[in-house]
Amino acid sequence: CRVRRYKFNVVMKNVTRLCTTKPIVTVNGQFPGPTLYAREDDNVIVEVVNNVQYNVTIHWHGIRQIRTGWADGPAYITQCPIPPGQRYAHNFTITKQRGTLLWHAHVLWLRATVHGAIVVLPKLNVPYPFQPPDKEVVIILGEWWNSDVEAVINESMASGLAPNVSDAHTINGYPGLMSKCGSQDGSYLLRVHTGQKYLLRIINAALNEELFFRISGHRLTVVETDAIYTKPFETDTILVGPGQTTNVILSADRPAGRYMMTASTFLDTPIAVDNVTATATLHYTGSLSTDAVTFSNPPPVNATAVASSFIDSLRSMNSPEYPARVPETVDHSLLFVVGMGVNPCNACSSGIKVLADINNVSFVLPSVALLQAHYYNVSGVFTDDFPGRPPTRFDYTGNNTVAGLGTTTGTKVYRVKYNETVQVVLQGTTFIAPENHPFHLHGFNFFAVARGIGNYDPEESPETFNLVDPIERNTAAVPSGGWIAIRFRADNPGVWFMHCHLEVHTTWGLKMAFLVDNGEDPDQSLMPPPSDLPTC
Ligand code: C2O
Repeated sequence: CRVRRYKFNVVMKNVTRLCTTKPIVTVNGQFPGPTLYAREDDNVIVEVVNNVQYNVTIHWHGIRQIRTGWADGPAYITQCPIPPGQRYAHNFTITKQRGTLLWHAHVLWLRATVHGAIVVLPKLNVPYPFQPPDKEVVIILGEWWNSDVEAVINESMASGLAPNVSDAHTINGYPGLMSKCGSQDGSYLLRVHTGQKYLLRIINAALNEELFFRISGHRLTVVETDAIYTKPFETDTILVGPGQTTNVILSADRPAGRYMMTASTFLDTPIAVDNVTATATLHYTGSLSTDAVTFSNPPPVNATAVASSFIDSLRSMNSPEYPARVPETVDHSLLFVVGMGVNPCNACSSGIKVLADINNVSFVLPSVALLQAHYYNVSGVFTDDFPGRPPTRFDYTGNNTVAGLGTTTGTKVYRVKYNETVQVVLQGTTFIAPENHPFHLHGFNFFAVARGIGNYDPEESPETFNLVDPIERNTAAVPSGGWIAIRFRADNPGVWFMHCHLEVHTTWGLKMAFLVDNGEDPDQSLMPPPSDLPTC
């Protein structure tokens, strides 16, 4: 175990994409940002220095932060933002995790450009559970916005309506040759040698879209998702939701040449979509940059069957070394109905305001961080009456109309005792439009024990639960017009955010938090806050 120190300097940087140059918020002037490398059991200290005009926080997405919630990063949940000109050192230890994760800004919409990879290597002398690759490569999928993202979200909040979508997807920062500026922007090129194996660490850092990724002519072997090893399986297309990561092995075993990589939207609902496919090139040694690039079409935007078959193939490794510890019993069985709503809004130019809610509560960020309020017993910041059930049961995925949807607002948490087990069924609805909701839980990994289309049935649905080798991850999608069931053990004291990782839905209120009390032993309690923790 060793200490790894990083300095993240948040600065503006002029970047040119889609033939336009504009200043964006970056870490250390890089887009995407720097990769953070560590080994399992390392102590990581990242000093974030805010040199921009915005308030900033950084979240280490998927790092469990056991007893160190102060370092987690979501603004007003675990910390107050770092004001311009200030700094904050995040100090945490990475335990029982190895693989690929991501870090990103967790305030406003800054994560559009403020994100990067976290690579957690196994402990020294502990091998991968698969044949060691010849080389490892980070591939970050993202988006590019011609306008300033903060302006995009501010406009949307002022009008009450949905924001504009981004102007292109990106692979390692570049839209690629199919974008309107094509080669003028440059594009990402991965050079490979015939016969070698590559571990691709693929991250979806996009704000608002689940993405299909494929490499023309090649099969990919999935070996890990969200820093948990999986049972390996082969596929030609992977699906990565925002906040998710997937490690695959690529064998350079095709005739030497050039092959197109694509990142394209998956969205099985008819709403505004950025469908510019990002491309990059796989280039075998010995081919020429003038050689034609082999291209196969990405799946269509509504390829639900492709998405489902990928998700259904994911299984935890569940080996003696890497067991799947699925909670067999549950202390809290919750049903969270995830909906969209419309409320009247006098201050909005459209007269209405789109909201999103869980069990009819649209979450309002407090002005003091919840974790601080909890630790110092500050009253009046939140209440612990988050409803574990919807107010009424009805046909969630039927032919619902918007009429009569009055969503309430509040800052409510759901409280559990240390080490209790929690099952949450996340039920999608058809209000406004059915949509996928990639849900992320901070502070834990959960097991995605089942998913289904239509309404969850408390009698029949539990029979389909996989309690043996379900996939373990930190982000999983509620299917459009359907549900998922997740389970986790609350073995991490603190306040932990859970939200849809489509940033627009988070902004609309599709979020809540779990409060986990300290356990009885001293090593089961939240550590004291660091002295440089920002205050509100
Ligand atoms: Cu990656 Cu709360 O987010």
